[in-house]
Amino acid sequence: MLKLNFDNLSADVVGEDNGISSSEWSAQVESFAKAHEQFMSWRESGDAVFFDMPSNAQMIGEFEEVAAGVRKNFENVIVLGIGGSALGLSCLARATLKPFYNVLDHKQRGGTPRLFVSDNIDPETFNTLLMSLDPNATFVNVISKSGGTTETMAQFALAKRWLEKGVGAKWKDHVAATTDPESGKLRAYVKENDLRAFEVPPKLGGRFSVLSAVGLLPAACVGIDIAEVLKGAASMAKQCDVADAQENPGYRIGAVQHIISSVKKKNVTVMMPYADRLGLFGDWFAQLWAESLGKDGKGQTVVKSLGATDQHSQIQLFMEGPHDKLLTFVGVEKFGDDGPALDEPFPSFEYLKGGKLGTILNAELKATSTALAKQGHPSMTIKVDEVNEYSMGELFMLYEVACAYCGALMQINPFNQPGVELGKKLTKEILGG
Ligand code: PA5
Repeated sequence: MLKLNFDNLSADVVGEDNGISSSEWSAQVESFAKAHEQFMSWRESGDAVFFDMPSNAQMIGEFEEVAAGVRKNFENVIVLGIGGSALGLSCLARATLKPFYNVLDHKQRGGTPRLFVSDNIDPETFNTLLMSLDPNATFVNVISKSGGTTETMAQFALAKRWLEKGVGAKWKDHVAATTDPESGKLRAYVKENDLRAFEVPPKLGGRFSVLSAVGLLPAACVGIDIAEVLKGAASMAKQCDVADAQENPGYRIGAVQHIISSVKKKNVTVMMPYADRLGLFGDWFAQLWAESLGKDGKGQTVVKSLGATDQHSQIQLFMEGPHDKLLTFVGVEKFGDDGPALDEPFPSFEYLKGGKLGTILNAELKATSTALAKQGHPSMTIKVDEVNEYSMGELFMLYEVACAYCGALMQINPFNQPGVELGKKLTKEILGG
């Protein structure tokens, strides 16, 4: 169960110019009601289909069956995909697999394959990856909702040739494609070549797709408990199935982001988890927020940060730079392995006695949010009991609802991305396509 703390957002704590007063919140009541209606109509039309993904229990069995075969027959899983076809999985894998997972041996990994999410098309990275792995022991999941993404299809062409060279005609046993059920060039290729394929619901956009085959199939291949991910997401969807913005945690976050941005004119939103396992949550959030809400001259600039590392990098700016930010801290109550206590601290560090690294990290979160509040910088804090499959499901659903609701308040469509199309078109033209 996530715990949300909004104390440092209140005008009483951070001042009238920076925080939200009860009258400012009440002034939005009509907009909240309209945004709820909009959210419900998106659910009805299928635009907000992400909300229903946890109830699709049937897909778990299907993915688990394929994943069991992958775990038995392969040592490596390469995922080819970019943006929403990569970030959710990367975030989930970082959160739930052991730290340094890929350098652990087969037994230390629990007998599951290594995972490589190949999102960018930097040639050095991609070629080094293929050169380092044995095609005989590698399974490739190519993921493209549209089936027409240049980066992913270029990688797939290279990976297919690499597999063919390594395993000959059996290359098809090493591949699964995840794409739209009907449309797109990848779907056409799958049909022509009789490849194993999985479906992304037609109305499910990339950045909202982590709880579909896009995130869950490869996650299951490396032993992540996808049923638990969906359970966490289902529990959050239930909590977010409430009209009142004060009671609905997703609506409340969306509303706060909107008010701080539009009323308080703070257009930078900082996501700062205090745990390495949540190190890619900021990346996932950044794409969700920027690509969904950066439209019509509106939107917040997202800054990714990590505690405690960025206390020694960005905090100076957050404290004494422009008053243009809303911060979100994500803290962890219990670390999976919190190591030994500091029983013999060095002289002058006696205050550490008896503490653990997790104790220090959490003290730093508290200290940083308090210090920022004293300087008038608004923030909210989300506490996660433990980073695991369940809590990641909760976090994904929480922020997907928050994003859609914030879009409704901003009166924009969070489910399209017209701004990326021109660049894609020009890339094709430059390459002679
Ligand atoms: O969220 C989105 O829609 C995008 O970031 C896409 O996920 C990204 O462009 C990749 O698209 P596709 O899955 O169609 O290859």
